Amino acid sequence: MRLLLVLASWLNIYLLSARAQGTNLTTQWPLHDTGFSDAVQWDHYSLLVNGRRTFLWSGEIHYWRIPVPEVWRDLLEKIKAAGFNGISVYAHWAFHAPNNATLDMTSGARDFGPIFDIAKEVGLFVTMRGGPYVNAETTAGGFALWTTTGAYGPLRNNDPRYTAAWTPFMDEMNKITAEHQITNGGSIILTQIENEICCQRNSDGTLDTPVVDYMVDLQENVRDHGVVIPIITNAPNMDTRSWSTDYLPGPGKQDIYGLDSYPLCWSCNLAECGSGSASVAYADHFDIVSPTQPSFMPEFQGGSYNPWAGPQGGCPGNIGPNFVSMYYRHLAAERITMINLYMLYGGTNWGGLATNLISTSYDYSAPIQESRILGDKFSETKLIGLFFRAAEDLVMTDRTAFSTSVATNPLVGATVLRNPETQAAFYVARQSNMMATSTVDFALNIATKSAGNLTVPAFGNAIRLVGVQSKIIVSDFRFGNNTLVYSTAEVLSHSIVDGRSILALWLPDGEFGEFSILGGSKKREVVSGTGGGFHTVGDNLVLSYKQQTTQSVLQFDDFTVLLLPRSLAYTFWAPTLSKDPIVTPNNVVFVNGPYLVRSVTLSDSHVVVTGDIANATALEVFAPAACQSIEWNGKTLSTHRTSYGSLKASLAKPGLDAATLQKALSLSGWRYADALPEADAAYDDSKWVVADHQTTPNPTQPLTLPVLYADDYGFHTGVQIFRGRFTGEASGANLTVQGGTASGWSAWLNSDYIGSFPGSASAVSGTLALSFANATLLASGENILTVVMDHSGHDQRDAALNPRGILGAMLLSSSNNTFTKWTLAGNAGGESNTIDPVRGVIAEGGLHAERLGWHLPGFDDAAWAARAPAEGVNNATIAFFRTTSELAVPEGYDVSLEFILSSPAGSNLRAQLYVNGYQYGKYVPQIGHQIAFPVPPGILNVRGSNTIGLSLWAQAAGGAQVDVQWNVLGVYESSWDPGFDASALQPGWTPARLEFA
Ligand code: GAL
Repeated sequence: MRLLLVLASWLNIYLLSARAQGTNLTTQWPLHDTGFSDAVQWDHYSLLVNGRRTFLWSGEIHYWRIPVPEVWRDLLEKIKAAGFNGISVYAHWAFHAPNNATLDMTSGARDFGPIFDIAKEVGLFVTMRGGPYVNAETTAGGFALWTTTGAYGPLRNNDPRYTAAWTPFMDEMNKITAEHQITNGGSIILTQIENEICCQRNSDGTLDTPVVDYMVDLQENVRDHGVVIPIITNAPNMDTRSWSTDYLPGPGKQDIYGLDSYPLCWSCNLAECGSGSASVAYADHFDIVSPTQPSFMPEFQGGSYNPWAGPQGGCPGNIGPNFVSMYYRHLAAERITMINLYMLYGGTNWGGLATNLISTSYDYSAPIQESRILGDKFSETKLIGLFFRAAEDLVMTDRTAFSTSVATNPLVGATVLRNPETQAAFYVARQSNMMATSTVDFALNIATKSAGNLTVPAFGNAIRLVGVQSKIIVSDFRFGNNTLVYSTAEVLSHSIVDGRSILALWLPDGEFGEFSILGGSKKREVVSGTGGGFHTVGDNLVLSYKQQTTQSVLQFDDFTVLLLPRSLAYTFWAPTLSKDPIVTPNNVVFVNGPYLVRSVTLSDSHVVVTGDIANATALEVFAPAACQSIEWNGKTLSTHRTSYGSLKASLAKPGLDAATLQKALSLSGWRYADALPEADAAYDDSKWVVADHQTTPNPTQPLTLPVLYADDYGFHTGVQIFRGRFTGEASGANLTVQGGTASGWSAWLNSDYIGSFPGSASAVSGTLALSFANATLLASGENILTVVMDHSGHDQRDAALNPRGILGAMLLSSSNNTFTKWTLAGNAGGESNTIDPVRGVIAEGGLHAERLGWHLPGFDDAAWAARAPAEGVNNATIAFFRTTSELAVPEGYDVSLEFILSSPAGSNLRAQLYVNGYQYGKYVPQIGHQIAFPVPPGILNVRGSNTIGLSLWAQAAGGAQVDVQWNVLGVYESSWDPGFDASALQPGWTPARLEFA
């Protein structure tokens, strides 16, 4: 063992020192494969898919957070349009396994096979991350919720009870993965087991056998099901150093080691994040832990989740376009060639999906917003994505660490990446202080293959960085048959049309750029916009220019250069003719103008473009000469050809806009019913579960008996209602109730309200001594204490076993009186419910209205009184409101809609919003922050009727009111149709619900 350790570290040192000496190591780095297939291979530099080197630029999306398969296509088209070539997908064990005898891979979004098919059709690779544990800010981190009782041990080890629990799920996951892997013609190229699991070794260096055996079991399960692609791991930080084949010997190693990183954490106060360049020195880490593998980040900060009580909308200021500019370029600077942004599209914690840290939104301030809207962050991400796609030489580089010596301004430096085969180099420039906000100008000392050492720009004004911004300055950059000796403007993309290259460069509007073309004798002409000054330097031709606010087009003998200001680069697209995720320039067609371009195809004399617009837009397509006209979303446009050969047309203002749609929407006709009959002592709960356990497998023991942990009785999500009986004298009750952070609870004695714990963003449980002084004890017969607990989700990791429910319940009584019986209601039928497999057990809780299906389409509320949630209730109770709302979005339009909930200042309430039977919003104003709840098509019927429900739980004696309004976020004329038939996703009310009173 010792010998192996020594050998391994010797190998590391040898390879590192060889590299430090600048030795050309292209032949020294081994090429690996899984041993089961060579379809996906890897070495020190990058991943190879079917023999082709690939820069993996991928983003995370969770099918279970957008449970509408039709919408996956919209999102994947947007992802592809931004230049990505991959997505990564966590599964969710609890979503598929409501109880330990059921695995549902077919109902609604549980049949997630289509996401792989769409990825294939759109041209994206997939990384499958099946779990069984994922984290993801979802309830219990994705563990099947029935494993949170303690009956399966502490989880994430080799305990046979846990192994038996996860095996059927991973069997199914791996069967599906095998079916969709690249060797079977599918899109999946990598599969991850577990997530962030620590560690292979104990702190004394010995193997952590229970964890290692678990990893080996998971790996064997993958291979037993015929999955032949690489297995990856995702390390939580740079300290754990586990599971890498290059680092220390021992079992449990997986094919490709990965590291995740969130340098700006999840606080708006960056001082809390401990960030700084030391924490992002990834290259040094990979050099030690995985030198023979590509440097890989299965998760890098795509945004940040919005914790309870955080500001509305998260902290977009910190992780917006500037963050993208700096940090995504920094990943390249660290020589990372496999990157997945977590999240690229966040989605929604509908139903019971959230862990108790967060509320309904999982917008994540991600590049694609929860509402599916594309803002500046998306555009900025697209700029770097298109560059990664165009920069062929980036897949194999050696790195010289960041240094200020290459820049003429001491505040600025660059990391140099150089391709050992072509000598193409990438200077990733930034200020030394990554968070500096000052504007700095500099020139760069570069070493080129084609023109020797240069200081650039040579003629024009300096290169500029405005605050948190990074630029990649290329040298010896190949495009088609031509070479840029260097460019201080950034490369956006490269296309070859009719054998001729078009190179797109971009700069922030008004900045100065300079590029040099190898071969100075080329003819050149400014055919549109303004050029700058041409200079011949030796054999090369240099253009120095100021970026105008319009596009300039320069024509050279055998290629064209487009100079784009950032504002136009944001509306610039480079769709591909081929659906191969590895894009070659002859498959790229440049299109400028629209809000989104989804696809391009060539048909006879047309170039056929699909996409979305929000406003009147000029449309320019750099299509082959054979194309005479542009067809946009099925309509042939009046098209003219420019002097430089592109096609131009205009797209008229869409007939529908957001303001018009907003005016047409209203919510009225609300009806209301009391939704807390359980508080009445006479309520018949004879069908409820009797909570009488005297022991629990949970490591946390209850304060009093019986055990009132809801999970022990098969209820794992949503509101839970406990009814305790007693006779005789008592002056009050002492209760400790644990629903998780941001949860709360209320209690009634024989229908009289006796108090509430309103909750807070930090308290996981609430203890109250409740007085019965203002309630009426029954002289004879049983008194009923009704406790309603809101459940904000299970904790993640080891804490998933933290119980939810009543931890302790004691009567305050001089005669030692105790409760004689407890009954409990959670979601209809508990974990064994089969009443609604489409939405699933995780979708609902145990509110009276939910158990009886009042939230569902088709429930008959004709007998209910007319009353709006804004009128609310005037005592501490729970009420349910319903209405229907017709939407008639015309064909050809996509819309982003949300609901805004509001209430008078100082309210204490808990409200849940239901849209066509899906709980799509949880509003707790005393905790904050979420007031806006986007709802996607498929949950909403944009051409049809919608059943809107609202549960209103007033946690104050004076009652509560909530106003509910539509808000139109965006209207787009679109080739993507949101008006599909979603009836299969929206099963309606059935009389079977009556069983669950
Ligand atoms: C990572 C984890 C993800 C997610 C993320 C924060 O550490 O792997 O599952 O929880 O943090 O959003």
